[in-house]
Amino acid sequence: MNTLPGPSPFARTDAFIRTDDLLGGNFGSARTYELEKQYGNGKLMRLLEVLGAGGPFRALTPWELEDPAGHRVLNASGYAALPFGDNPPELNAFVRRILEDPQQMMFAQQSASEWRAALQANLVTLLARESNDHHDSRVFFSNSGAEAIEAAIKFAQAARPKAKYIINFTRAYHGKTLGALALTPNPNLQGPFKNILSPNVITLPFGDAEAVERTLRRVGAGKIMAVITEPILGEAGVRLPPPGFLKRLGEVCRQAGVLVIADEIQTGLGRSGHWFESVAQGLIPDIITLAKPLGGGMTAVGATIVRDEIYRPLLGSFETIKRHSNTFGGNTIAMAVGLKSLELLIDADAPARSRRLGELGLNRLKAMQARHPELLEEVRGAGLLFGMNFRPVLALPFKFQANLVSEATGALALKAFYRSGVLLNFSLNAARTMRLTPAMNMPEDVFDTLFTRVERTADAYPSSFKLVQRYGTPELLGLLKAAFLEK
Ligand SMILES: Cc1ncc(COP(=O)(O)O)c(C=O)c1O
Repeated sequence: MNTLPGPSPFARTDAFIRTDDLLGGNFGSARTYELEKQYGNGKLMRLLEVLGAGGPFRALTPWELEDPAGHRVLNASGYAALPFGDNPPELNAFVRRILEDPQQMMFAQQSASEWRAALQANLVTLLARESNDHHDSRVFFSNSGAEAIEAAIKFAQAARPKAKYIINFTRAYHGKTLGALALTPNPNLQGPFKNILSPNVITLPFGDAEAVERTLRRVGAGKIMAVITEPILGEAGVRLPPPGFLKRLGEVCRQAGVLVIADEIQTGLGRSGHWFESVAQGLIPDIITLAKPLGGGMTAVGATIVRDEIYRPLLGSFETIKRHSNTFGGNTIAMAVGLKSLELLIDADAPARSRRLGELGLNRLKAMQARHPELLEEVRGAGLLFGMNFRPVLALPFKFQANLVSEATGALALKAFYRSGVLLNFSLNAARTMRLTPAMNMPEDVFDTLFTRVERTADAYPSSFKLVQRYGTPELLGLLKAAFLEK
């Protein structure tokens, strides 16, 4: 009911868009782009529009998308956040069942919640099965990966209040909120924010456990609160550590009393072929962060799993129980979807499936790279995380230009594969590496078609320069104009 004086603003249909306009599915892509460009991240939307690879899509199946022109693509671009593809029917039906209960309490911030209770318990049970060290762990829920990292930093600092440094690694990606960004050593992303990012971050080469040992000796282990690492660098384009690195890192830190945070937001819950990649590699983390697959591609769930003795200094006493919280973390829909997603992953033994399909896919990518070394510099993979590192489309001597060429290489590769019916992922810390992160439940025949299309595309582009040539001069000029000339 409209209780404000005067006519309801919703009567002014010229100004307010009604939900019914969207529910009918007839909103239109032109209008969508117009509004996106005017009121949102216009530059990004314009570039996607010019590339013709930005939808808006409809999900024909969880694995196949259709754009407004009727072009169909297999979706390998879920950024590891679509464990079951887009709008999977099992989750869709499950959410409907919850919504059917009109007395279901949705916002349980200041009360106990059975959904949250169950998801906490299941996450700890799963982790404890993999690692003996986590039987008494606790879980803090939030609304994104970056927020799970922020919580991890606060738990670590509260547990080691006298230590002010965190060690991170080159090319890591932990998110874009200020705490997480300080741990993400990407000059472009950190650029204008450097002044407000913590200076107490020591960045060491990924894979070099001796560098960690030396730093602990030089700075003093007592001054270092934690080491944070991704077990595999996802946004750096799927970069695996050298064998033994993670295990050694864990031993060094445990001996020195320094905490280890494993950021499993991208690798965790089966994607890389294990429930927890860090644990599988012999590292026993004190804190683990999770996010992407827990939301089942439907909603946002971040989780920070913390050993009890590290949890308590932040939230374990009457004086401090309010030191960390958020409004929406742990809400009913998020927790229920998280619980169901975890159940589906466990029932399907997702890690085993990722390992098996991952090996098939990586072998095909390797053979493809061997056939087309002028197109692909390298291919990498772990489970259902694949990276294809393209050669630069042009060789330019200056670093500034090299960055632009790398960005252009990624965009042109995206377009070339899109034309062949494959939607790829960008990589935030490696512009020339495009990733495939297909759903973990992708049927085998669809997976096979996906890789056949990838191979056919590579066969059609014997060198990366062909990505430019084949794009077409008017399209290329349009892209350059959208990138550099348009406001
Ligand atoms: C390893 C890792 N950590 C943290 C994040 C940040 O997660 P979000 O984008 O949900 O904030 C990401 C996202 O890509 C990630 O891959």
